[in-house]
Amino acid sequence: MRKTLLMLTLLLMCTWVSAQTPEVLSRQRALVRVNQNSKYLLIPVQEQGINATVSVLGAENRVIQTFSVRLATDKTDYYVPLELKDAKLLDISVRFPQNDERKLADFSCWKELKFSDTFDTANRETYRPAYHHTPAYGWMNDPNGMYYKDGVYHLSFQWNPYGSMWGNMTWGHSTSRDLIHWEQQPAIIWADGLGSIFSGSAVVDKNNTAGFGAGAVIAFYTSAGGAQMQSMAYSTDGGKTFTKYPGNPVLTLDVADFRDPKVFWNDDINKWNLILAAGQQMRIYSSANLKEWTYESSFGEGYGSHGGVWECPDLVKLPVRGTTQQKWMLVCNINPGGPFGGSATQYFVGQFDGHRFTCESAPEVSKWMDYGKDHYATVTFSNAPDNRVIALAWMSNWQYANQVPTMQFRSANSVPRDLDLFQYNGETYVGVTPSKELLALRGKTVKQPTATCEIVVDVRNNTQLVLSNAKGEKVTMTYDAAKQTFAMDRKQSGAVGFSEAFPFETVAPTNGKLKQLRIFIDHCSIEVLDAEGKMAMTNLVFPSEPYNTLTVKGGKATIYNIEN
Ligand code: FRU
Repeated sequence: MRKTLLMLTLLLMCTWVSAQTPEVLSRQRALVRVNQNSKYLLIPVQEQGINATVSVLGAENRVIQTFSVRLATDKTDYYVPLELKDAKLLDISVRFPQNDERKLADFSCWKELKFSDTFDTANRETYRPAYHHTPAYGWMNDPNGMYYKDGVYHLSFQWNPYGSMWGNMTWGHSTSRDLIHWEQQPAIIWADGLGSIFSGSAVVDKNNTAGFGAGAVIAFYTSAGGAQMQSMAYSTDGGKTFTKYPGNPVLTLDVADFRDPKVFWNDDINKWNLILAAGQQMRIYSSANLKEWTYESSFGEGYGSHGGVWECPDLVKLPVRGTTQQKWMLVCNINPGGPFGGSATQYFVGQFDGHRFTCESAPEVSKWMDYGKDHYATVTFSNAPDNRVIALAWMSNWQYANQVPTMQFRSANSVPRDLDLFQYNGETYVGVTPSKELLALRGKTVKQPTATCEIVVDVRNNTQLVLSNAKGEKVTMTYDAAKQTFAMDRKQSGAVGFSEAFPFETVAPTNGKLKQLRIFIDHCSIEVLDAEGKMAMTNLVFPSEPYNTLTVKGGKATIYNIEN
């Protein structure tokens, strides 16, 4: 036993060394000298700790990077790794709230700072989804810069590498060959003097229109500093590393909320289009070379829901089922102002001629892509194969995203969904179908649900499904054919008290009769998708143990275990 302990201690000593004591400059400022031989400095974080600003200084004390981190004041919830590279000195400062008499020197973090060549990302969370994309650690919100190239799907994401709450926005990067199994890669776009890196998109420039080379990947993002402006970065190594364009920013406007550029090639005009959010409108631009953009038009005034900021747009051409027609769908994520409070994905269907989008519905019509509370910032992959239009959402809601009960990481993406259009009662709606890659996940059929399973339900006129566990926690789902509604009630689903906005029943119109539902459960999420794509509902749940009982009234359920 003693021998094992000794060996363990030796092993630990080999992998990390304690950081030296900080040089305290004042009650709120300290310097930490960096041990050049280690790859990382592991910083102890306390979720409710105090936000410190860290300036990383390199040769001749030039600032390499500045970020904020919730330093542990009296207990360490988790560590985050700061990659040291050329760092020599860290200048750390905090601004204490009024009447807070604490001293930076008394924080518990100093005893626990360590230099290390490794950072352990093994999962420590019971709620981490198994077949949904999550960041290995840290906070994630919107999916960004999604494209397909040479057999690989690329997914960037709004990432905080220094904590599990929003901040330090950076483009994290993950890759996958099947939209299901993701591997996190080094982050690709980091904050600079123009600001942190907000949401955006990426395209593959097959014909070298921008001059960075045929097949270069070009990313567009919002530089969010004092003002919001649009910048670009290019990659000539297949998306592994990006170089910021020296002419940044490429698009500016005197509007406070001016962000989230989505760029796409438009065959109809043989040019690129860019759509982005500006206040409560979407502005559309065009360009031949991705660098110089011409303003075309704006859409939004008087149309749809305006209960919050318009964000993360998309504009895609989709086939209308059962016809030879194609129409355009303008995606407009909105926060707050969703149908159940907070964030949601709104869309408009109409025509787009490369210059102007015309909505075909009456201005007062609001359409929602998903009728759950946890489906936001939805955008589609660029250059997807076989003319597919594949969407991913961020499975959370700004009402409580920073409070959900996980710590090592916060938030996941939805399962991939293929989009098209269908007509019902004189309106055209988006069809949201589970992507075909999900079928490969089906394992053996089981009698009762597990933490990771797909439930296929053949519904009858009235069907009720109750997922529950021995703790009395449950989720009730009800399909009412007469009313043409589907509802999910998570008021007693488990941990719900972290936000008043969390316990809720969401209700969706079914646009006709439902036949079959596909329900994807993955530890903390339930996504109910109509097999024919006419209805989607995504809700988070945090049961204290997995739901292991399903009772079905008026329908037939088959449960497939998912062993990912
Ligand atoms: C949407 C959003 C975007 C912005 C990003 C910042 O969730 O507010 O508009 O670019 O998050 O992280």
